[in-house]
Amino acid sequence: MSMNNQGRPTTTVTSGSEAIVTYTGHRALVQEEGLIFDRGRSGKWGVDLPVPKGGKDRLGGVNRKGEIGLPDLSEPEAVRHYVRLSQKNYSIDTGLFPLGSCTMKHNPRLNEKVARFPGFGDIHPLQPQETVQGAWALIDRLMHWLKTLTGMPAVAMSPKAGAHGELCGLMAIKAAIEARGETRRRIVVPESAHGTNPATAALIGYTVDTVPANARGRVDLAALKAKLGPDVAAIMVTNPNTCGLFEDEVREIADAIHAVGGYFYCDGANYNAIVGRVRPGDLGVDAMHINLHKTFSTPHGGGGPGAGPVVFSEALAPFVPLPFVVADGEGFRNVEHADEAAEGDKPFGRLVAFHGQMGMFTRAMSYMMSHGSDGLRQVAEDAVLNANYILASLKDVMSAPFGDTGPCMHEALFDDTFLKGTGVTTLDFAKALIDEGYHPMTVYFPLVVHGAMLIEPTETESKETLDRFIYAMRSLVLEAKAGNKEGAPDRFSGAPYLSPRSRLDETAAARKPVLKWTPPAPAQAAE
Ligand SMILES: Cc1ncc(COP(=O)(O)O)c(C=O)c1O
Repeated sequence: MSMNNQGRPTTTVTSGSEAIVTYTGHRALVQEEGLIFDRGRSGKWGVDLPVPKGGKDRLGGVNRKGEIGLPDLSEPEAVRHYVRLSQKNYSIDTGLFPLGSCTMKHNPRLNEKVARFPGFGDIHPLQPQETVQGAWALIDRLMHWLKTLTGMPAVAMSPKAGAHGELCGLMAIKAAIEARGETRRRIVVPESAHGTNPATAALIGYTVDTVPANARGRVDLAALKAKLGPDVAAIMVTNPNTCGLFEDEVREIADAIHAVGGYFYCDGANYNAIVGRVRPGDLGVDAMHINLHKTFSTPHGGGGPGAGPVVFSEALAPFVPLPFVVADGEGFRNVEHADEAAEGDKPFGRLVAFHGQMGMFTRAMSYMMSHGSDGLRQVAEDAVLNANYILASLKDVMSAPFGDTGPCMHEALFDDTFLKGTGVTTLDFAKALIDEGYHPMTVYFPLVVHGAMLIEPTETESKETLDRFIYAMRSLVLEAKAGNKEGAPDRFSGAPYLSPRSRLDETAAARKPVLKWTPPAPAQAAE
């Protein structure tokens, strides 16, 4: 029996209804939406304002000469356009978002309420410091929690995303090496690393050296040791890694890099799997970013505005960038310049104009306080439990390359071996999931396995939600394996069939995106 997204029994939808072409282009109550520019009609206004009379022209002759080309719409038309567009978005508030490595977890509404408290939401970074003591206190408290949870003595709050945190961490490492009077040129990165790791290293001018994974999906320790030498500045290891596995030789990795005088940068994007259970500081980590928009439930900003604070070991603590908050007898103050810092501190510079993302800090603090330390520990346990439930429920029909090496952490990795001989690719499979009402999982990442499908359910999904997703996945697997029956629709090669737009030419969309509306030629426009 089929189940719909609410878990109610339903019959499988056949292609019959899709064959119906509507006169309007709408499909039931889902309306076709054009560009707002195409909807606009010259001379139509959302607001009527009287033409200003008389006023003095202070533009010094640089007045606009013609139309600026904004679409003209009435207010209801503009409102409907944007509401309809918003309804086409799939979001964490509309359904399970199984993207691996992205940790798309629920954003609690309590966080939103706290972030809107006027004392936090309505303040300005240039306000006199004595008027924002509460905000500094919150940042200081958050720093305390981050340091305590990770077992690291220092933290930089200003980075605005995970990748920005990587930049911060590597710049501190570079500064520490330069302070020793050395120059080191190489950064070693495992092949399972997130693309931002090698990109960040290359951005600062390091040569990137890659280490392969072993048969257990972890860093190959022997290969890593063979790469290390006096010109290696750091290793960048994600733990838990992007195969969803804990690097169980992490202490040996830390010892190996320290033995050659380099630093251990840990990509902490997956910290939600171990928060409250493992302190990276105890594992020999020197610097680690924490994506507040993953572990601590602040909203994903699609590349920003997020927050990626970086925790530092004793060795790197003096190099934390400006500005940072300190408490003295008078209250809190923001240290803006290197000469105001404590003796021995050598901030490597400044990454951002102000102190970081206040809205994200308040949300993260609200999340931490509402969970408490035991609650945060349970977050990690439930995230791991949910991922293992997915792994265990699918590995008999799909292929889990490391499924026999023990439990996974927060995400379950599959490859495309199970699709062999079906003619269905990982991409086809993921697109067919859209027709079933689910955002696809992460595909073709990590690169260490062929045709990867990486599923991260997060701790906030219930067993019922996971069961429905597993049901959809298993049904698609069986259908792919059964092959096309004569006359039956092909569910995969052109999927998604039921979305407002079907499969795009992704290469053209990436390489030649059409980002600008071009008005129709006058003859057409007059029709
Ligand atoms: C393992 C890993 N590292 C780094 C990043 C980069 O983080 P951000 O997107 O916040 O820049 C991500 C993001 O998905 C990630 O999964």
